[in-house]
Amino acid sequence: MTDNKTNYLSWDEWDELQNPPPAVTDFDRVVESALSRRGFLGGILAVGSAAAAMGTLGNLMSSTSAQAQDAASRFSFKPIAISTDNTVHVPEGYNWKPLAKWGQPLFSNVPDVDPANGVSLENSDKVFGENTDGMELFIIGEHQVIAINHEYVNPEINLPHNEKGTPKSADDVKILQNMQGVTVMEVAEGDNGWEIVLDSPFNRRIHHNTPMKISGPAAGTDLLKTEADPNGTDCLGTFNNCGAGKTPWGTYLTCEENFNGYFGSTDEAFALPADYKRYGIAAKSQYSYEKFDARFDVSKNPNEPHRTGYIVEIDPSDAASTPIKRTALGRFKHENAAVVIARDGRVVVYLGDDERGEFLYKYVSNGIYVPGGDTSKLLDEGTLFVAKFTDEGTGEWLALTPESTGMKADEIYVFTRQAASKVGATTMDRPEWVAVNPVAIEAYCALTNNSNRAVMKDGKMRTNAGGDVMDVSAVNPRVGNEYGQIVRWYPENDDHADAKFKWDLFVMAGNPDVHKGDAYAGSSNINSGNMFNSPDGMMFDSTGLLWIQTDGEDSNEGEFLGQGNNQMLAGDPATGRIERFLTAPKGAEVTGQTWSADKRTHFVGIQHPDAPFPDGEGKLPRSTVIAVKRDDNALIG
Ligand code: FEO
Ligand code: CA
Ligand code: CA
Ligand code: CA
Repeated sequence: MTDNKTNYLSWDEWDELQNPPPAVTDFDRVVESALSRRGFLGGILAVGSAAAAMGTLGNLMSSTSAQAQDAASRFSFKPIAISTDNTVHVPEGYNWKPLAKWGQPLFSNVPDVDPANGVSLENSDKVFGENTDGMELFIIGEHQVIAINHEYVNPEINLPHNEKGTPKSADDVKILQNMQGVTVMEVAEGDNGWEIVLDSPFNRRIHHNTPMKISGPAAGTDLLKTEADPNGTDCLGTFNNCGAGKTPWGTYLTCEENFNGYFGSTDEAFALPADYKRYGIAAKSQYSYEKFDARFDVSKNPNEPHRTGYIVEIDPSDAASTPIKRTALGRFKHENAAVVIARDGRVVVYLGDDERGEFLYKYVSNGIYVPGGDTSKLLDEGTLFVAKFTDEGTGEWLALTPESTGMKADEIYVFTRQAASKVGATTMDRPEWVAVNPVAIEAYCALTNNSNRAVMKDGKMRTNAGGDVMDVSAVNPRVGNEYGQIVRWYPENDDHADAKFKWDLFVMAGNPDVHKGDAYAGSSNINSGNMFNSPDGMMFDSTGLLWIQTDGEDSNEGEFLGQGNNQMLAGDPATGRIERFLTAPKGAEVTGQTWSADKRTHFVGIQHPDAPFPDGEGKLPRSTVIAVKRDDNALIG
């Protein structure tokens, strides 16, 4: 039978013979070398490079899987198939349980969310908020404390009495404001598994009205002054908290992403300031806050939007501490903040700006981190850089200074996107999370997708909101990129503070079932069994495995056929092998993760499920953090 089979060509093999691949271009070679430079492909041509290697696709795939089998020991789980249902799936020998759900009380005198009425105004700042995102676990004495983001709200389920959840009063707005921001909560593992420790002195909600300090180079400048805060140093609230980070001195970094959507104008004649356009601040807001809360009405408070879009530092060990907005890390749609200490002790923070054609940044402190020393200025005094990638696999961090940008210092930190455009940074395919490998000197950024990459409109190539053209380049190699890729860089001199780096692509996501032998099939470490689209959340565990979470198209149709619901996969930096570990309920994105102190539990965020989850039929769809364990309670990260 086997012999007979080799006499037949599959439809695809036949098609390849009828339609020989186009000639390999110089650009293909650039992409190929970007994919294979660091050698994980073992000299095998990258399938994902534009037109290369079509005729030998079958050989390439089998060689890759043989190589992957050699590396089997890195993965302690049996990879799982895609799912299309409304629950979470994990591999055989693993289990999961909810830890914290939207609307779940943090204090014992507060009831759980009432499906018919939602959470009352009085209780809305005493429960776990909606749409869980980035998280970090802190070990504080004997306690384990998780700080975790609540990115946004679905108004319909938070204001169930209002049509489409549209706020009708200041109280309605306040409920929505309270259900977003950050939760700090103590957690403990008992007979029922992991639970929130009710009434713990660490438990705290930070929301859209929590008092904060503004520090760093933009603090106190005219651009940040408002009628309520003539000093430009004291603001209220943190917004659209997406990814996260953690400092070595035990603080949490929450990252303000799509802050623009909270602001609007009640005055139709109000002319929006010119700087709004680059950040997408418009007259119409997402939740109509401006109708009931003048702070969000830009016709009355035009500087208020300048006071968000930052990295905010929170001390999870003190529920009375005041969060600090660190303007030195720039103002843009911050995804996460990946902190690493450079060779000489300076603090390096990698930062992505998640918008089509925006940039990848790095902050380097002036001072050095000394354990137990003063850390109060480490995120205030330093230099902000933006990445420029060459097609030859090298790159450079360009400093944003008054000399390099022609802008004043405060302007650089408030209009950071404009500053980065001035120095010629590389437009990227939406930088999401950056993850730094704890066992090798390298970092990774998930470039989730960019439907506008090199797409023509009205005879012109699409640009970012600042007019920077988004042509293809080796690091963003695909026109109309729907699948995304993960770029990895190696700092020169093995030093994250160095101004130069080398880079390659760890993976180009794609669909090898739908696309044969072109760039949209993905790189050679993508196959029918592990494919996904739109990498987003990303963290390393302590062993150096890369955990990749997706936030993509989960129709399981067309371009995305065979990719199922969103998922979490593990990647091995050494071999490039990627395997699927977890699948999410339909509609949900997998985002945010951390590990228990003993590394026997992996906490994972499930954001915005479509159908009832995790409580079953007839219940609400609740954004939920789950605790994943091995049945034998062995180490998991
Ligand atoms: Fe909130 Fe870019 O994800
Ligand atoms: Ca994200
Ligand atoms: Ca995303
Ligand atoms: Ca999201």
